[in-house]
Amino acid sequence: MPERSPEPLVVRGGTVLDAGGSRRADVVVAGGVVVAVGSRVDPPPGAIELDATGCVVAPGLVDLHTHLREPGREEAETVETGARAAALGGYTAVVAMPNTDPAIDSAALVAAVRELGRRAPVEVAVAGAITVGREGTRLAPMAEMARLGVRLFTDDGRGVQDARLMRRALEYASGLGVTLAEHCEDEALAAGGQMHEGPWSSRLGIAGQPAEAEELMVMRDIALCRLTGARLHLLHLSTSGSLALLRAAKAGGLPITAEAAPHHFTLTDEAVASFDPVFKVNPPLRGAADVDALKFALADGTLDAIATDHAPHPAEAKELPFDEAPPGMLGLETALALALSELDCPIETVLSLLSWQPARIAGLTATQGGPVEPGRSANLCVIDPAARWTVDPDRSASRSRNTPYAGRELTGRVRHTVAAGEAVVVDGEALR
Ligand code: DOR
Repeated sequence: MPERSPEPLVVRGGTVLDAGGSRRADVVVAGGVVVAVGSRVDPPPGAIELDATGCVVAPGLVDLHTHLREPGREEAETVETGARAAALGGYTAVVAMPNTDPAIDSAALVAAVRELGRRAPVEVAVAGAITVGREGTRLAPMAEMARLGVRLFTDDGRGVQDARLMRRALEYASGLGVTLAEHCEDEALAAGGQMHEGPWSSRLGIAGQPAEAEELMVMRDIALCRLTGARLHLLHLSTSGSLALLRAAKAGGLPITAEAAPHHFTLTDEAVASFDPVFKVNPPLRGAADVDALKFALADGTLDAIATDHAPHPAEAKELPFDEAPPGMLGLETALALALSELDCPIETVLSLLSWQPARIAGLTATQGGPVEPGRSANLCVIDPAARWTVDPDRSASRSRNTPYAGRELTGRVRHTVAAGEAVVVDGEALR
């Protein structure tokens, strides 16, 4: 968490919206915490005024799935640039994925990335790897990472292929009170697939990976969750079949949560017809029926969170031919607006999917996800739900440019972000 003692500020004229509901109120922040919420607040002299007229004042967003690329891939992103992009997107906390180079699979690496995070404009939590080097053969020292406060473990970018090892990891995680987050992909079935297997892959002559490559691992992990009773989080689900499995598992009372990424509910595999690698991602963009199923599952509570899978890649990598380019897309600066523009649900639901539910899954409720009330850490975002804007990759704070939404017009914009009591974004501009 950033260490600073920012100046007091008052967020004026907005509608406060958190898990407890909404009310017209100003919010006074001092010493990093909310000190007053109400219609007749008395800010300390000299407090900075942030105008929130016509805006929603919500707990800051929490991203369960951010690739910050440090250490090792700093040409694509750094903790600092990724955290700045997060702040611009309304996030006050991100969980940094461990598929760095080297992988974050030890307490020393967790400590190093957390140290970088202390200087970042938003809270940077770190996910640890499940297996050494994310190689899927030996368990990483999860206990020493958990002692440093790591609450999520994942080999993301890959799923744990060996069911026996995954069972052991779940048993171990259960004892440590932490959550395993699985990238659901059966590598043998997905092998060689560069996009979703379906009519578009046939027409384009690009090798596909079937929906079943994801669903087989969802099925297996639900079985292992039943066997072990351990908490399991399913990353970036993308197929209607996965959602049916998830729905049944939840109905059976299993301790499972799951997320979807904005690109999976806003784009289809038809986009790959451009052969532009900006549309290459893993899991791949799916068909229209999967998009509809994801939107439905976000609205009806089957899915617990929207997570970006913000995956920066440098231009030279994304300019390779489609089958040689790495998978991944930027996400932090567009997630909220995509959810507000494309989902058929009220802003309360969108915010629960982007803020308080992911805060709970990440184990960050002490500082993140609200409620907006005196004594709580001042992690807030101020959203103008009616503002229209056009995505311009050149305005991104990320070190990379690989957004698939260049030129797309969206509704709903982050106006201000307050992280640990400091105004880090004001009127859509990052202050640091
Ligand atoms: O498209 C993806 N990119 N999917 C992943 O699981 C990993 C990510 C990356 O790290 O680039």
